[in-house]
Amino acid sequence: MCGIVGYVGYRNATDVLIEGLRRLEYRGYDSAGVAVKTEEGLKSLKRAGKLKRLEAALLEKPISGSSGIGHTRWATHGPPTDENAHPHLTEDGKLAIIHNGIIENYAELKARLLARGHRFVSDTDTEVLVHLIEEHFQGDLEAAVRQALSEALGAYAIVVLHQDREEIIAARTVSPLVIGLGEGENFVASDVPALLPFTRKVVFLEDGEMAVITPDAVRVSDLRGHPRPLRTTEIEWSLEDAEKGGYPHYMLKEIHEQPWVLENTLGGRLDEANGEVTLDLTLDPTAFDKIHVVAAGTAYYAGWVGKYLIEKLARIPVEADIASEYRYRDPLADERTLFIAVSQSGETIDTLEALREAKRRGASVLGVINVKGSTITREADDTLYIHAGPEIGVASTKAYVAMLAAMTMVAIWLGRARGTLGAEETRQLIGEMRKLPRLAEATLAQQEAIERIAAKYHQASDFLFLGRNLHAPTAYEGALKLKEISYIHAEAYPAGEMKHGPIALIDEHLPVVVVTPKGPWYEKTRSNIQEVKARGGRVIAVATDGDEDVKGDAEEVLYIPEVHPLLSPILAVIPLQILAYEIAVLLGRDVDQPRNLAKSVTVE
Ligand code: G6P
Repeated sequence: MCGIVGYVGYRNATDVLIEGLRRLEYRGYDSAGVAVKTEEGLKSLKRAGKLKRLEAALLEKPISGSSGIGHTRWATHGPPTDENAHPHLTEDGKLAIIHNGIIENYAELKARLLARGHRFVSDTDTEVLVHLIEEHFQGDLEAAVRQALSEALGAYAIVVLHQDREEIIAARTVSPLVIGLGEGENFVASDVPALLPFTRKVVFLEDGEMAVITPDAVRVSDLRGHPRPLRTTEIEWSLEDAEKGGYPHYMLKEIHEQPWVLENTLGGRLDEANGEVTLDLTLDPTAFDKIHVVAAGTAYYAGWVGKYLIEKLARIPVEADIASEYRYRDPLADERTLFIAVSQSGETIDTLEALREAKRRGASVLGVINVKGSTITREADDTLYIHAGPEIGVASTKAYVAMLAAMTMVAIWLGRARGTLGAEETRQLIGEMRKLPRLAEATLAQQEAIERIAAKYHQASDFLFLGRNLHAPTAYEGALKLKEISYIHAEAYPAGEMKHGPIALIDEHLPVVVVTPKGPWYEKTRSNIQEVKARGGRVIAVATDGDEDVKGDAEEVLYIPEVHPLLSPILAVIPLQILAYEIAVLLGRDVDQPRNLAKSVTVE
């Protein structure tokens, strides 16, 4: 994961690096550091902890120069200390590197370098790279980096700076890098938000590419040195999109953006008159006889909802799988399999590797992705963008509802083409989908009621979340949100399965959130509420507006507007996001950067 920024140009590099790192802190916040080329050689400053510690240190000891590299770390090898913070420099201080990823053969390389007299000061795998580059450097930095990388195994995005060279070198294998193009200045970063204050014209480096970046030119080649074309893309996100917009946290801002996000995801894709969706996909929806939906974290829960929707509307067998499990279970994928990778970042390594496994077995790949130009979009045969805009809060919210909306459209696309879904039924569904942005807005109006409920329950040590059928994933996502940002232990279960175990947990201290909007699952889930109540459990229900019956059994009810049952997961998750948010705020947690987590997980 880790955030990376590099700069060459006419501005003070330190300012550019810090400005960029501020926008990348969500990628890791264990430590931060910069190395800048000054008139007296390279100068570096790094601090364990959040970026503000580095900023404070820089106020005391300012560094200025015209090129530099900066990093925020999410620790893999070695604890988050000043020494293990990036950049890593050679002993003579002439060469510096920042790195995201893991060098798998670092122990072997380190032993070799130690034998040749190199001295190491950190526990990181990264430090071997800077020594290896030094070992090969004879005046040509690009060649030295290339030689060093030919010996390194693993996943990496690196940026290298040398005191005697007017350039920075960037290279990637697996981990992402994007170059920002300016006038008389150029940039490189692990993610687009770092570049937005400076430029919208970017080049996404491909897997296995490297770039030599000077103030006036960017030259891209593969890792063997063969030139590659410069493919520029214009980024549509505004700077404001990537900032907090007046909310105390990105997460709250993103929760409140959901009506707009749904508008964006669905916009231009619903053809109500003909009862069709227009997805502009090149894949043939009739060419498959099974589907594997694969994802991680929140995206997996969206994939799970997608499984139910596709099976219902398109009558094709679907398996939903956790990406890190998929690749090791010898999956039964073949030429007749559609593999759907669901991912906000498009960079999650588990999902990417699962995709590669499916491709090796002949499957066709559809990405359901937020970040434009991300690695999965480039490796997939086709991509359906969810258009949620930049998501900065580590706990995913708006990307989830956008994924659900996108998976609904995928199910319709498959169902229509395969003849299992009629035009009239589709028209009705589309009519309901059009209402979603407005209904999401109405759901947000529950905020105050939820604040009150949060105040009442925020000291509970455990929560149980229950839901049935399409709302089993809603329950899991609600529990995930709560544990991610409040650190309260929360368990989720399919409501019907509760009696086979978790029912033993129920007593008067346990808040049980039961997701039960109107739908085919309603009556059975109501019975589960009664089972909880009979054992003294405290029920917080999520129900459909106007459902007065549920009030009799539940201590609290959170209402969502009435909507087609197949679309209800899109609304039912919203109160759960707000509940988790409000509880985390009351507990004084770091909502946008919860401990130990990272936004985009590029290590297995
Ligand atoms: C991390 C994030 C989660 C996210 C998951 C998958 O664990 O903290 O919020 O759901 O990765 O990320 P993706 O970018 O593939 O959707």
